[in-house]
Amino acid sequence: MTGEIGFGLNGARRNVSAGASQRLIDVLREELDATSAKKACGIGRCGACMVLMNGALTNACLLMMWQVEGVEIVTPEGLDAVAEAAFVRQGLTEENAFQCGYCAPGFTVTLTALLREMAKPDEADIRAALGGNLCRCTGYHSIIRGALRAVELRAAAVAALPEPA
Ligand code: FES
Ligand code: FES
Repeated sequence: MTGEIGFGLNGARRNVSAGASQRLIDVLREELDATSAKKACGIGRCGACMVLMNGALTNACLLMMWQVEGVEIVTPEGLDAVAEAAFVRQGLTEENAFQCGYCAPGFTVTLTALLREMAKPDEADIRAALGGNLCRCTGYHSIIRGALRAVELRAAAVAALPEPA
């Protein structure tokens, strides 16, 4: 059965005609021109498709369209509006975290969600948070360094804020 489904996508209201059994990742990529979330395994194992749903980290390949009605979705294209993402992007870039880059959007969304949840995650916290993200290229060392650098950058930015009057 196909019906109209409305949801927020990166701050804009979108209405799509979709079958209830269609998955969000396919609708994003094939109908809404939002291709930065990737589809790889399609079964919730690799994290390439990570998005934020109402602020929570979610695999878009596991979301059926009927679950999306009325929610707010942020894809990697929408991370400019999430303050923590700037530190994550900078940290990963400084450490040359990726090789082919296919996994990069998913890792970036996951680490952004982590920085929103924890003030100063350590390496163990980062490794635990990244349990659902797979990278076939890097061996993870550069990604972990990039994540730790993002934590440092955010801490430095917070320390530089003026004291409240
Ligand atoms: S494509 Fe969704 S977890 Fe792999
Ligand atoms: S850099 Fe190639 S899959 Fe991660």
